[in-house]
Amino acid sequence: MYALRVAVLLAACVSLASAGTRQLDVEVQPPVTLATELADYRLSEHISPVSYNISLRPYLLESDATKKFTFDGEVWIEIYPSETTSSVHLHSKNLTYSLSEYWQKPATGVAAPTPTRFGANQTNDDTDIVKLTAPTALTAQTTYILHFVYTGLMQDDMHGFYRSSYVDDNNVTKWLGSTQFQTNHARRAFPSFDEPQFKATFDVTLKRHRTFNSASNTRLIASYPSDEEGYYTDVYKTTPKMSTYLLAFIISEFVARKDDNFGVFARPEYYAQTQYPYNVGVQILKEMGDYLDKDYYSMGNDKMDMAAIPDFSAGAMENWGLLTYRERSLLVDDSATTLASRQSIAAVVAHEQAHMWFGDLVTCKWWSYTWLNEGFARYFQYFGTAMVEKDWELEKQFVVDQVQSVMAMDSTNATNPLSDENTYTPAHLSRMFNSISYNKGASFIRMIKHTMGEEFFRTALQDYLKKYEYQPSVPEYLLGAWQAKWPNSSYNDSSEAIFKSFTTQVGYPLINAELASDGLSVRFTQKRFLLKENDGADADLKYTVPISYTTSETTTKFANSTPKFILKPDVATTVSFTPAIKWIVANVQQTGYYRVNYTESNWHAIHQVLNTADWGGVHENNRAQIVDDLFNLARAGNITYNLTLDVIEYLETETNYIPWTSAFNGFSYLTIRLGNDTSDFGTYIQSLTNKAYNQLGFNETSSDTALDIYLRTKILSWACRYGSADCISKAKGYFQSLTTVPKNIRATVYCVGLREGGATEFQALYDKFKAETVATEETLLQNSFGCVKTQALIEKVFDLILSDEIRKQDKSSVLSTLYTENNENVSPVFALVTQKYEQLADAMGGYSAVATVISNIAARFTTQQQLTDLQNFNRNYGSKFGTSQATLTSAEETVQENLNWAAAKLGVFRSYLANYRSGSAMVNAFSAISLLLVSLVTMLRH
Ligand SMILES: *[C@@H]1O[C@H](CO)[C@@H](O)[C@H](O)[C@H]1NC(C)=O
Ligand SMILES: *[C@@H]1O[C@H](CO)[C@@H](O)[C@H](O)[C@H]1NC(C)=O
Ligand SMILES: *[C@@H]1O[C@H](CO)[C@@H](O)[C@H](O)[C@H]1NC(C)=O
Ligand SMILES: *[C@@H]1O[C@H](CO)[C@@H](O)[C@H](O)[C@H]1NC(C)=O
Ligand SMILES: *[C@@H]1O[C@H](CO)[C@@H](O)[C@H](O)[C@H]1NC(C)=O
Ligand SMILES: [Zn+2]
Repeated sequence: MYALRVAVLLAACVSLASAGTRQLDVEVQPPVTLATELADYRLSEHISPVSYNISLRPYLLESDATKKFTFDGEVWIEIYPSETTSSVHLHSKNLTYSLSEYWQKPATGVAAPTPTRFGANQTNDDTDIVKLTAPTALTAQTTYILHFVYTGLMQDDMHGFYRSSYVDDNNVTKWLGSTQFQTNHARRAFPSFDEPQFKATFDVTLKRHRTFNSASNTRLIASYPSDEEGYYTDVYKTTPKMSTYLLAFIISEFVARKDDNFGVFARPEYYAQTQYPYNVGVQILKEMGDYLDKDYYSMGNDKMDMAAIPDFSAGAMENWGLLTYRERSLLVDDSATTLASRQSIAAVVAHEQAHMWFGDLVTCKWWSYTWLNEGFARYFQYFGTAMVEKDWELEKQFVVDQVQSVMAMDSTNATNPLSDENTYTPAHLSRMFNSISYNKGASFIRMIKHTMGEEFFRTALQDYLKKYEYQPSVPEYLLGAWQAKWPNSSYNDSSEAIFKSFTTQVGYPLINAELASDGLSVRFTQKRFLLKENDGADADLKYTVPISYTTSETTTKFANSTPKFILKPDVATTVSFTPAIKWIVANVQQTGYYRVNYTESNWHAIHQVLNTADWGGVHENNRAQIVDDLFNLARAGNITYNLTLDVIEYLETETNYIPWTSAFNGFSYLTIRLGNDTSDFGTYIQSLTNKAYNQLGFNETSSDTALDIYLRTKILSWACRYGSADCISKAKGYFQSLTTVPKNIRATVYCVGLREGGATEFQALYDKFKAETVATEETLLQNSFGCVKTQALIEKVFDLILSDEIRKQDKSSVLSTLYTENNENVSPVFALVTQKYEQLADAMGGYSAVATVISNIAARFTTQQQLTDLQNFNRNYGSKFGTSQATLTSAEETVQENLNWAAAKLGVFRSYLANYRSGSAMVNAFSAISLLLVSLVTMLRH
């Protein structure tokens, strides 16, 4: 699954990070009545399914009257009990049965025996497990058939076998049926052993009205008129042995661009937008097969389709052979789709296709090990795309998008280990689709690759896939496969310790690399990096860490990322150097999952190097790492903000997207804390970005790289937002002729138009939105609505979010722009949300979604009054939020922490800004003196 990330970062109205990647709308409501034991959520293993034969008939027409949006189902499940039992346990949710029976499977050619009806049963609405009683016991090691006839519901919550709709060119609403079964929703379509470890084959038959067509995981092998007038029966080839959550079907009026093997489905009006995903999809699938030495089409399903679904909860889903996507996560229009969106589309395609091997063929045994699926999918989302789209510098983007973003979450008590044994309830399952499984999983995998070396890593993956194909997997299997190919030279004896310390423990280390004053040695020690003091996180964790570094005297500089040694828990390692070194930078290209701290003089030496031509050859990943580490070390109180702000003044010369992204992420946190008082920051950021701004301007040139184009979007967004008169006036100029705004600067132009304009500008964008036929552009437009600033327009956008004009899947991201784009909007939006929380709960599909919104807004609070407002709301209405009340309560703690943090540390930042503004000699003198000192020290050493 392609989970969508919470949009909390300040972004261009839509930045690279958020184009296509907003928060997964996790609507899994924690159950109201708890099962007595956590283990009750797990299905008993005494019976294994062998195959399912499923037949479904949805009701999607007006003429279906009261049956509309329900379906009829019939399923035969072949099972194999490992022990004699009269108790059959299955998953089932919101299904109504008219027949439940079973019989022993006869030998071929022998007539089936008379079926036996199941006796009494026990159901549990919490675990979704139904326990059926067989009047005569099922014999161990004997095959049986279970047979059920039932009906189910096609709801609009984007899970199970659900309904979706769009309005066609003739203004007719078209309905369709589609599926989303991951993580635990196959049970809403058919009774099933709905855990990933219970792999089986599936035969699917779909009955549809002649105006519809259907699709499923495998090839259509027969289609014939059914006994019902106007209906057809479509029969699909048997699937490979796979997990229930990977089954899928679609009944729609979609059209396809396809060849014999590969197709892309979309609503007919969007056919033209299927060309790019078709091209890139065919190529990535081929490259992945080559890399993994296992051709996709040889794995038991000889076709691949990708479909764009109008209403879709996640970003995309890896159903074997029938990948499903949001429309904006798949469809490309060359004239309107920005490069950032095109990249994220290629990346999502690579992600889902990578799952065909990691997830579908070899599957995490249980959701405790979600990272075995999602870590690899996220890894190949970058490295698989890069095999086809070679100019996007995806390895570098990986560092800022993946490694750095998850390090923030993984340094608080709110984190969880990659392999999390405490995974039982639906709430646990949805937690496992967080950035730990995705980002940390992928970052950990990349660290191992750099430790083992690319070729050993690759053949180890090939062996792993061969050995465990069609089976469930656990982390030990992966470790074993890696160890079998782990080169002796690369610290083989530490492989298990490295693996365990990063997969079973939470967090990661801060490595202290202490350069001796004579420059002849560096002493490495470690300590867990924690962002907050005393938040309950375990500060004593230690890790086994592969350490790479480069020094002022290293000739390969930043090219060689191979670790130089393994730092063990509780042991300091001292490395000697001759001749003396001037500086050291550890974690080459940020290939390791750790932060690094240096002595103050080493930091200043790094600063000095960064100020030389070409940044002294320091790799852009390491410039980004230095910036990100500095911001976070200061935020956590490990170093002073003055040191951070001093070193990052080098950004005045920076023109690369990668370090700038780290810088903007660091500034985002600080600017949120500044609240409405950002005028000094405005002066500062304009000055810092001045060189990049002048170099990039508004006009794309033919020599621009992808990263130049992305950097332009970011620089313009920050410059305009923080008051650059030139930026604002140019952006307003573009806004005058809305139809001709160059696509890659649209986000900024739209946002500035609304921020600096009023009702007329809003109406112009709204009209464009209503007429829009490109999914990515529609997303861009709706995500800029939140840039409005007047009370009347804020209310207007809020009402739009409550209405059907914004799809349920998009409501939370549109709403988030309303309080992230302008700090001044935080209080007005909080007031609206808390006044209309009941309507919002209806619109968003539950109170948990509203609690999340409130908590995200509260995370941006900067005053005691705002905290009081939150406390009052929670006191008066908190109980209406049921189990989500906890989210509201912990939001209060977050606000209090942020207020405390600001009281302790924001003053330093504010006075730095004030000094910077007045061009104060103090700031400059400070850095001049420190540079002088560094040069002195350096001279003395030689
Ligand atoms: C379980 O028992 C209830 C009550 O008799 C019945 O309505 C339901 O269909 C049964 N469930 C199954 C799966 O047979
Ligand atoms: C689905 O089933 C749950 C209990 O499992 C019930 O609370 C809910 O109302 C049902 N939904 C519908 C639409 O029937
Ligand atoms: C489309 O249909 C809706 C309701 O069916 C109607 O309100 C709207 O005016 C129609 N729009 C156009 C452009 O015909
Ligand atoms: C820290 O996290 C653990 C595990 O989630 C939890 O039990 C504990 O209460 C948390 N501590 C604090 C102070 O929040
Ligand atoms: C980080 O380095 C500074 C010197 O720059 C030192 O004062 C501080 O103790 C170090 N912090 C940690 C956590 O190692
Ligand atoms: Zn995924």
